[in-house]
Formats: sequence, C-alpha cells, structure tokens
Amino acid sequence: MSEAESTRRRILVTSALPYANGPIHIGHLVEYIQTDVWVRFQRMRGAEIHFVCADDAHGTPVMLSAEREGVTPEELIERIGAEHQADFAAFDISFDNYHTTHSPENRECSERIYRALREGGHVVERTIPRLYDPEREMFLPDRYVRGECPRCGAPDQLGDSCEVCGATYETDELRNPVSVVSGGRPELRDSEQVFVRLADFDEVLRTWVGETFHPPGEAERRRVQPEIANKLDEWLSAGLEDWDISRNAPYFGFEIPDRPGKFFYVWLDAPIGYMASFLNLCGRVRAEGGELRFEDFWAVDSEAEVYHFIGKDIAYFHTLFWPACLHGGGFRKPSAVFCHGFLTVNGEKMSKRRGTFVQARTYADHLDSEYLRYYFACKLGDGIEDMDLNLDDFVARVNSDLVGKVVNIASRCARLLQGISEGRLADRLHDPALFERFAGARDTIAGFYETREYGRAMREVMALADLANRYIDEHKPWLAAREPAGKAEAHAVCSTGIELFRLLAGFLKPVVPATVAKAEAFLGVPPLAWSELATPLCAAGEHRLNRFEPLLTRVDPGRVDAMVEASRER
Ligand code: 2FM
Ligand code: ZN
Repeated sequence: MSEAESTRRRILVTSALPYANGPIHIGHLVEYIQTDVWVRFQRMRGAEIHFVCADDAHGTPVMLSAEREGVTPEELIERIGAEHQADFAAFDISFDNYHTTHSPENRECSERIYRALREGGHVVERTIPRLYDPEREMFLPDRYVRGECPRCGAPDQLGDSCEVCGATYETDELRNPVSVVSGGRPELRDSEQVFVRLADFDEVLRTWVGETFHPPGEAERRRVQPEIANKLDEWLSAGLEDWDISRNAPYFGFEIPDRPGKFFYVWLDAPIGYMASFLNLCGRVRAEGGELRFEDFWAVDSEAEVYHFIGKDIAYFHTLFWPACLHGGGFRKPSAVFCHGFLTVNGEKMSKRRGTFVQARTYADHLDSEYLRYYFACKLGDGIEDMDLNLDDFVARVNSDLVGKVVNIASRCARLLQGISEGRLADRLHDPALFERFAGARDTIAGFYETREYGRAMREVMALADLANRYIDEHKPWLAAREPAGKAEAHAVCSTGIELFRLLAGFLKPVVPATVAKAEAFLGVPPLAWSELATPLCAAGEHRLNRFEPLLTRVDPGRVDAMVEASRER
C-alpha cells in the first residue's frame, strides 16, 4: 500500500447504533473504540473519512420505558441521546456526526427504500396470527411474552427460546404464556403484516458475500470474515423466509406510508439510520459552505468505501436484511461488514453482582479512558472471538507498556535535555540506523491497523519502545551529562531518544489520542501525520522542545477496585 494512494480513498464508517433505552457500558465500548482507532488511523493517513453513528430510537422497549418514566418517547430519547454522546466524548470517540433514527432524514430514507422495494415487487402482505395483550390493547413482541418451555417444561422462559434446554420455538407454542407488560394472558389475533421477500435477493446476497473487493492502494479483501461467510452460507442454504417489517400501533416508530396504523419494525429503519446520519452530515457540511454529496457514497455505482463495524450477534441483520434492502432500494451495498466478539471481564460474563457490568460513565468517573483504549487495542484482532478484560492484567499492562516504556522515554530524555541544552535538540541523529529501523516499521504497523490487527500493531510498537529504552540505557546519558567532555554525547543520545519517542507517539496516536496530543504539545509539533513520521525533527533545522508535562500517570489499582465497587448491585 502506498501513502499517496491512500489519500484517494473516500470512506464512510459506522459503528452499530446503540438503543436509546439504556446506558453505554464497557461491552459496547469494544466496538466504538475498535472503530475509532481505525478511523483515526485513516485520518492520519490522509484518507477522506466520515464516521457516523446515531441512537437507535424506535421500538417497543423505548415506548414502554418512556411510559414507565412518565415521559414521552421523544423526551426519553432526547435525554438518553445526550447521555450517550457525553459517554462517547469521555472516550474520545471521534464521530463526525451523531444523529438519531427518529429524524426527518431517516423517515425520508426509510420511505424511499420501502417504496423502491414495493415498486420492485418485493413487498407482500399476509394475515398471520400474532400475540396480543387484551388488557393493554397492544400486540406483543416475542420477548414480551414468557411461559413454560414447550420442550422441557421449564417455567418463565422467553417467547422464542428456552434458557434451560436451549430449544427455539414459535411464541404460540409456549405453554401458559404471560404478557410481561400486563401480567395477563396474551391471545392470538389475526393481523395483517407487511413482508419483504428476502428470497428475491438470494442470488444478490450470494454474489455479494462471495466476491472480493479492492480498496484503492490496498490488498484485495473479503466482504465478511470467514466465520460469518460460513454462517451466511448456512442461512442462505436453509432458504430465506419473508421478513415481517411491520408492527401494529401502538408503536414508537415511523408509520408505513400506505398502511395507516402500521409502523416500520425498528430493525428496518435502524441500519437505514446509518444513511440518514450521513445525509444529515451532508446537510451540515453544505450549510457550512463545504461539499459532501450523499450520492457519492450511496449510489449503486459509488466508488467510495462503506464499512460497518458490528458485534457478531447482529451479523444476520447486517449481512442479509441490510444488503437486501439496499439492493432493492436502489443503493450500493457495503464494502465490508466487520464483526467483533463479546467482552468478558476476568474470564466471565459481565455481571452486576460481581461489579463487572461497568457503565462507561462509572469507568470515566474512576479511570482515564486512554487506559481502556490501549488495553482493548492490545487485545483486538480481526476475528470474532470474545475478548477478555482481566483487571489485574489491565493495570499491569498499561503501567508497564504505556507509562513504563513509552512515556518514560520522553520524561527521562526531556529532563536531561532541559539541563544540557534548555530543550534544544541536537542537529543530527546519533544513531541513524536505529531511527531508520523505527521509521521502517511504518508500513508493517499501518498494515496491521488497516486489517484491524491492533494487538499485533501494539506488540510491534512496544518492541520498538524496548529498543529505544535499551539504547538509552546502554549510553547512560545521565552519567555522561555530568562530565563536560560527555555533554555532547549525552545531548546527542537524548535528542535521538526524543526523535524515537516521536515515532512511537505517531504509531500510537490512533489508540491514545489524548496522550499523543500532549506529546505533540511537548514536542512542539503540529498534529502528527503518518506520511511525515519518517522525517526526524532535526532535519528541519534547530528544534526546541516545550516544557515536559506528565503525559499519562500510572493506573492506580485502588481506583479499579473502587470502580468495581461502584458498579456492584446487591
Ligand atoms: O443491537 C443493537 O444494539 C442495535 N441497536 C444495533 C442497531 S445497528 C444498526 F443496524 F442500526
Ligand atoms: Zn426448555
């Protein structure tokens, strides 16, 4: 890959839209951090990249939560939307736009796609029995009915699956069903529903998942990871059933244009929310005098890249429903969908009782977000396996790598340079070969970022940090600086140490942007760009450092304990 070519890339990136009825927790953050690192890397490389997201505002749970709180759904989603955005800001998630699915743009895009599907003959209507709560006078989603498992008889099981024996079934097979909303007995009522005929897109989906594509200047790649391709193959081979995209009033969502009293199912308009957020961004950019065209990214013949980062649990929606809707709606399909696994903490499922179900807010109240960004980066690869946050390892790794290895290079060299030259760097490199070795790692590290192998990128960077520390240790500038005759050498070694630190900071910038922003201020340089990393500071003539301020402090294990305590529910 060449840097000149990467500037040609035009990329739209999304993270999954969080539901507007609950807080962001550290499990969610895996994805937002994973996406943000990728986005920041591409920005550093000079690509045109737009990172959009939104709150997923529609559906029965939001409607019922609002009711319980005694507010309107609009009031609820407004409040939660603001909380989500504050949480994301606390973790430096650098969205270019954050919108809501309950927006005029999303209504417009959803109606456009629906009309195109209907005109293409992909929409059918059928009357089917659905669960109805006569007390609350509403139809119930499967999840709002509980009862005895039809296979093993276990009580209090979900409407679609049994947690005891693992069986899956239709909700009307449940024995002694109870409505979660009213506690009453639900009944089956005939209801006319609107379906999309997914089978019409069987061939399109097979082709899409089977083909590779070629991002400008990059290696050819697949649209989905191998495990997801296998899943898709299974789903396609089993045959695609019609997808019910309608829900009956009362429902918080968009009314279907030609079907009064029927609303789009939340999972229809949620992914369309990606487009709608981008459409909103285009409007904002234009209002500010800039230029950004929706069609450049979404037209069938668009050459831009579109990537969705999601959890593996919602692969079905993003690799079947979504490309089918896009195709039928007359739009291009995603370049690729990147799935990640779930987060465990200390080897177990996140648990409120153990205090490991940590909300983003609680984390941010106790610890620096940079620690978590770095730790997740260390553990992230391009696969869909689950990933563990081991809290002891978290403390040890951040302290030993970020603080002990990287920040340490800057702080020890800065202190000595202040005494030797008032912070002026030497005018040439003391060990050009070592500098070249660092600079030469750019492509390898860039390649790892590009393919989301952040763990490998971090290992590469830390191996270089070890080399830099060893170089300084071997030359002992703190001893040399004491003798008049050794001053020049100490000056040269510490200056080179700073030059190496600058490269490390550049490599780490997508992961720990706040720390690197402080490093840029200390170095007295403009924001580090990937293409400039190989040019040492001394190449531009005399360079003077600014005062060294601590870049990052050690993780205090006591704060980690306090965070867990604050998260514990008894
Ligand atoms: O699973 C979820 O949390 C959904 N709110 C994700 C939606 S992603 C996209 F399709 F909108
Ligand atoms: Zn069962």
